[in-house]
Amino acid sequence: MSRKKITVIGAGNVGATTAQRLAEKELGDVILVDIVQDMPQGKALDILESAPIYRYDSTVIGTNGYEETRGSDIVVITSGVARKPGMSRDDLLKTNAGIVKGVVENVVKTAPNAILMIVSNPLDAMTYVAHKISRFPKHRVMGMAGVLDAARFRTFIAMELKVSVENIHASVLGGHGDTMVPLTRYTTVAGVSVEELISKARLEAIVQRTRDGGAEIVSLLKTGSAFYAPSAAVAEMAESIIKDKKKDTAVCCFVRRGIRHQWPFCGCAGETR
Ligand code: NAI
Ligand code: 2OP
Repeated sequence: MSRKKITVIGAGNVGATTAQRLAEKELGDVILVDIVQDMPQGKALDILESAPIYRYDSTVIGTNGYEETRGSDIVVITSGVARKPGMSRDDLLKTNAGIVKGVVENVVKTAPNAILMIVSNPLDAMTYVAHKISRFPKHRVMGMAGVLDAARFRTFIAMELKVSVENIHASVLGGHGDTMVPLTRYTTVAGVSVEELISKARLEAIVQRTRDGGAEIVSLLKTGSAFYAPSAAVAEMAESIIKDKKKDTAVCCFVRRGIRHQWPFCGCAGETR
């Protein structure tokens, strides 16, 4: 059985960490692309040199071109600029739309059958750009945000109740920003709704912290935005697709009249829902 090929465009914080996670999970061979000369090659080699210690046989190749991406099964797009303190995700719109458009035009030529996984912000708008430019069917263009937002919500609930994150199932829908909707009614701890376990006021504070989760990290880092949890979310989505796990996963995708979050979606690679 041949290995899957996963391309990650943008070898910055999210892209490089994603490449590392994909390789460590041995989900396939990884191609890391960036416009900065030699940087993706250097990061790819560095990741590859950890393989004997972490014991994986995925290859990791860095490049400034698209030839190596030919035939990719999944293409993760993280290229663009990240938020700085005081900036909203929407401030990134114009710059990142141009970058995502150019990247997708290249990907369409080299990997016409790939599943596109968009990470660049503003996430919902960038997923729409990728959908329009690629003209790929909607089940092959998805944005990553729901998994990250739900992970943040689960983290804060676990901190509040002092229970394992593994006991918490959270649903977060809506846009990746102020329109985010953490669904408290459908969020459970060992099957019990959080509404029965946490007071209304505390739960509202946790919901707001989840909505502001990206900004909280930006204000602490000061020079960029989150990347450990975002890359973990991408790796989980990629794993779900590659292993066809049929997981209940929130993604951003085009539904009829605009961008909506819809689930289930991941784990149905190659199938239209
Ligand atoms: P970063 O600045 O560390 O990395 C971005 C990389 O993209 C840079 O290395 C840059 O050289 C590269 N790049 C720019 N134009 C390119 C092009 N045309 N082709 C290839 N590479 C290009 O930023 P970071 O932290 O990795 O974030 C990347 C994006 O992901 C940002 O837009 C950020 O807001 C977004 N993001 C989205 C999340 C989500 O939940 N959807 C979570 C975290 C970040
Ligand atoms: C985040 O939520 C910046 O969208 C990014 O961390």
